[in-house]
Amino acid sequence: MSDQKKLADLQMDTLAVRAGTMRTEFNEHSEAMFLTSSFVYENSQIAADRFANAQNGYIYSRFTNPSVTMFQNRLAALEGAPACIATASGMAAIFALSLTVLKAGDHIICSRSVFGSTIQMFSNILSKFDISTTYVDLSKVNEFQSAMLPNTKMVYIESPSNPLTEIADIHAISLICKASGALLVVDNCFCTPVLQKPLELGADVIIHSATKFLDGQGRVLGGAILGSEELITKIFAFNRVTGPTLSAFNAWVLLKGLETLSLRVDKQSDQAFELASWLESLNMVERVYHPQLPSHPQHALAMRQQRKGGAIVSFVVKGGRENAWKVIDATQLCSITANLGDTRTTITHPATTTHGRMPEADREKAGIVEGLIRISVGLENVTDLKNDLQRGFDLI
Ligand SMILES: Cc1ncc(COP(=O)(O)O)c(C=O)c1O
Repeated sequence: MSDQKKLADLQMDTLAVRAGTMRTEFNEHSEAMFLTSSFVYENSQIAADRFANAQNGYIYSRFTNPSVTMFQNRLAALEGAPACIATASGMAAIFALSLTVLKAGDHIICSRSVFGSTIQMFSNILSKFDISTTYVDLSKVNEFQSAMLPNTKMVYIESPSNPLTEIADIHAISLICKASGALLVVDNCFCTPVLQKPLELGADVIIHSATKFLDGQGRVLGGAILGSEELITKIFAFNRVTGPTLSAFNAWVLLKGLETLSLRVDKQSDQAFELASWLESLNMVERVYHPQLPSHPQHALAMRQQRKGGAIVSFVVKGGRENAWKVIDATQLCSITANLGDTRTTITHPATTTHGRMPEADREKAGIVEGLIRISVGLENVTDLKNDLQRGFDLI
């Protein structure tokens, strides 16, 4: 298999279609999909050398697989990361990272507005191993400083947050982490490297749910962890024996997803901004959340650390749940589903779905009110999307 050509100094769009490619002796143009659980050796000596790490090469797909390697190398090139390891899902990535870098007695600082399963993992699972978590407000840098303890080993954030698009000042938080020796982990699922480069802003580790924009077409689950060679080597050793590995099939699908990532995310983000600006002009809409809107409380910070606002728009309809459900149910184009990052626009009522298990008082306090609707804007024509939402607005 020949190595890829030198790809240093190339732009994002070029890396997305070229980085990571490896060719077999057949010289295929498109990347091959390696659906094989194990690899064969020419003789016993080579087998022994591979197992002893004395010779590079593939052994078994729980450890490494060429389709997975290609996906990892392409994503690492896009994020500007020294190394990447892929996992079966975003949650598997967070779990593998946590169990690699944390031990009993350690402490995590986590933003209150991260994905719900991340909070459950930290609070209900890692707590069983004597790993504790303090939750802080994403937008208040001083809360990160006050929560820092001598045993804080990991600070975990998502920016922008879901569904209210609050922004974390990644650079300011990274300075606090560096001073305390804690690892700053950024879940970059909403922006992707097309809009935000957390490592350049000072983060140590990036997490991806590749299930979202990296695939971008709602087909497969996947995850990834990106960081230093040293960290990824340790996670590799953990994954090799615990097995949360990405399948070769999914890796191949994700590799193809990356090829169109910047086209999709740029367009989806532009459409989301257009939709958000339109929503802001409507009487029956109380409030719109999108970082690119000048009315967003952290607009200046968002535009400093992100290229664009992203594809997620949330808005509050006057009249609470009744009217929110009317708007959602009247749509004919938008898909009513909690997934996001798809080329097809999805529409969700967070208070009764993604955040339905939160106590009502906490939910309201966090801004997840009954009239809130979240849209993940896809690639449909934006006028068609406005007309689709207008159907519901006409009923209220
Ligand atoms: C921001 C974020 N991180 C992580 C995850 C978990 O990813 P997965 O569903 O691939 O396990 C999700 C899933 O929705 C998410 O939205």
